[in-house]
Amino acid sequence: MSDKKLWAGRFNQPTDAFVEAFTASVEFDQRLAPEDIRGSIAHATMLARQGILTEAERDAIVEGLEAIREEIRAGHFSWSVGLEDVHMNIEAALTERIGEAGKKLHTGRSRNDQVATDVRLWLRGEIAAIRGEIRRLQRNLLELAEREAETILPGFTHLQTAQPVTFGHHMMAWFEMLERDHERLGDCSRRMNRCPLGAAALAGTTFPIDRDFTARELGFDGPCANSLDAVSDRDFAIEFAAAASLLMMHLSRMSEELVIWSSAQFGFVTLSDAFCTGSSIMPQKKNPDVPELVRGKSGRVFGHLFGLLTLMKSQPLAYNKDNQEDKEPLFDAVDQLKGCLKVFAEMVPEITCNRQAMREAALKGFATATDLADYLVRKGVPFRDAHEVVGKAVALCVERGCDLADLSLEELRGFHDAIGADVFQYLTLEGSVAARDHFGGTAPRQVRRAIAAARERLE
Ligand code: ARG
Repeated sequence: MSDKKLWAGRFNQPTDAFVEAFTASVEFDQRLAPEDIRGSIAHATMLARQGILTEAERDAIVEGLEAIREEIRAGHFSWSVGLEDVHMNIEAALTERIGEAGKKLHTGRSRNDQVATDVRLWLRGEIAAIRGEIRRLQRNLLELAEREAETILPGFTHLQTAQPVTFGHHMMAWFEMLERDHERLGDCSRRMNRCPLGAAALAGTTFPIDRDFTARELGFDGPCANSLDAVSDRDFAIEFAAAASLLMMHLSRMSEELVIWSSAQFGFVTLSDAFCTGSSIMPQKKNPDVPELVRGKSGRVFGHLFGLLTLMKSQPLAYNKDNQEDKEPLFDAVDQLKGCLKVFAEMVPEITCNRQAMREAALKGFATATDLADYLVRKGVPFRDAHEVVGKAVALCVERGCDLADLSLEELRGFHDAIGADVFQYLTLEGSVAARDHFGGTAPRQVRRAIAAARERLE
């Protein structure tokens, strides 16, 4: 294939060799080839319908592009840096293959509306795949939540023992975070789903094109309403990176909990060997590398969000070459997201809960102190006073190194005479979680309800 530049008409000197490599994007944007070809086929079909191309020309173009698509898929296509980007590589290959008709494909369009279309098409497909991966992880979380609906562990605030919660409830918290991520990505995809084709370089085209047709052909909800905006803005990519960052932030928090829980000091969960690695020096080590790496990768995705925002912020209308820099961060954000979701979805079913260790931890740290205060309130003591009374009881326990439930009825009554023999049922872990029996609460009954509602949502 000749490397002759498709825009070389007004140039007298060849491009500097380094500049050629510096300005080229084909090394990474060849990833957009399937979408580029899809967009070109829709464009050529529209041109023929409008009488701008003959049917024979259209057929030659479509057949040629389909053959090129196969060649690329099979890995036989030879990409040329001299031809700069995916668009000109494919167009040059088409002309080489079918002759004159190939040179007519670019009628009424520009690489500016072409690339804006390609990226949207590509990202739309990737978002659908990512949303599918989120669903898979959510389903696995539901299984784990169901298995451990009654398992009690200490719930924390400030990473200090707060109140007992059920492990199932905790898993459903993760589920909810992911539910919003799923929704956010759906919103992003919807807003993005407008077709730039027809905007051409920036102002539109002099040919009698049918923008509604190409938009429909490519599964867009309609054409972009303003040609300048259509070719220039990459807000959809930024919005995706923002949604991706939030998702990574959630996965990172989950990872952090798994790292803490799987430590010898906590011992709440055991991760499967398949998701851990050892140490080259310390023979005893089993490190939670997978959650650690997910936590680490969140930083890189946040970086892409900032890279894209900064890339966009000073660009005057309309297209600028800066926008070529949108692809690598976008591609990497998608790759990292898919990788992290996949590894998480596969790790979750392999998590073993050490129920005894969680229970023992929940028994430390006075997790049922609020239950005692609430008990007093039900006996007519104002909450603020109840809080004070229980605080004193806790102080005694700290001094003695025992739990609230270890105090005798006499000792408890010493703090307040409203305390009766029925108090002990409220001081147990089971009593504590079962009592939080309302929508969104941690009671096993509510966890099962939440799981059932979630299953219905996922149908
Ligand atoms: N490779 C370019 C990009 O990714 C394609 C558009 C080039 N347009 C231009 N006028 N130079 O943005």
